[in-house]
Amino acid sequence: MPQTPAHQEQLDAVAHAVDRASRADAATLAQLKTEILGRKAGTLTLILRSLAGLPSEERRAIGARANQLKRALEEAIAQRELALQQEARAPKALDWTMPSRPVWRGAVHPVNAVTDEICEVFRTLGFTRVTGPEAETEDYNFTKLNIGLDHPAADEHDTFYLGPGVLLRTHTSPMQARVMEQYQPPIRIVVPGRVYRRDAFDPSHSPVFEQIEGLAVDEGISFVDFKAAIDTFVKLFFSRDTAVRFRPSFFPFTEPSAEVDAQCQMCRGSGCSTCKQTGWLEIMGAGMVHPAVFENCGIDPERYTGYAFGMGVERIAMLRHGIPDIRLLWENDMRLLSQFSE
Ligand code: PHE
Repeated sequence: MPQTPAHQEQLDAVAHAVDRASRADAATLAQLKTEILGRKAGTLTLILRSLAGLPSEERRAIGARANQLKRALEEAIAQRELALQQEARAPKALDWTMPSRPVWRGAVHPVNAVTDEICEVFRTLGFTRVTGPEAETEDYNFTKLNIGLDHPAADEHDTFYLGPGVLLRTHTSPMQARVMEQYQPPIRIVVPGRVYRRDAFDPSHSPVFEQIEGLAVDEGISFVDFKAAIDTFVKLFFSRDTAVRFRPSFFPFTEPSAEVDAQCQMCRGSGCSTCKQTGWLEIMGAGMVHPAVFENCGIDPERYTGYAFGMGVERIAMLRHGIPDIRLLWENDMRLLSQFSE
């Protein structure tokens, strides 16, 4: 039987398979193995099987070529399989164009930063920073501060009660009593901390907020010393040209009592929406310590006098940073907080 064009076609197909094997993926390699080398119907198997019926010259020529192609194909498949295995194990190439993930750095919350700043100003004036419990007794929160339990502030309406006689402090003033009970004058303290009131959230109210209490008790402290200390604080904290004014007010634990206004930082006193066109912003309640409070805490009101003040930290932080809504300070939104990281 002469060499048929069919033999030539089949040998060409095998040569083509050798070529494909060097670039094939795993699935194609498996497919080539059965199609070309398969024991039953592989192209090469069929060629070799048909050799027996060929004249000896052709048998030798086709047989040699077929065996040569078989080795070449087996070699190509083995090499490619190895290459694919190594590729799978190799580390992935770096994509230099991939955007990096943001790295969040911690930041001091604006309210804590302002608390630290205020306490630092008072430190330079001789005040020590102390803290106290947020869960308080009626006694410290009200009674010792000369606030009768029938006073509107003591009304359950404003206060979160935790149990009979126990509540979340509505101001930091109970620390006045705790410190005066424990230490004899001279006393100069500032007390930062959280306080709680049954108020709904709105742009200027939050049921939890931060206050800083101040207390100075010594022999011979007068109203002039009180005004000088507050005026010095405002000028050190805001700026040397910020005016201060004292308006008469009432607190059961101070006499006389005052509300302290600082010149509006937004409009420098000319009137704007922040100060409701008044040019002034209230920054604290204050006054001379009431003799009844001294007596309640075991300090001789004949010998000692003093002043106390309490300020809302959020208001001051909002003023300092132009933040229009107190709720922004409690939402922990990274878009706000990240502006305060260094
Ligand atoms: N405790 C008062 C308040 O929360 C503020 C204050 C403190 C007033 C000290 C006078 C003296 O409103």
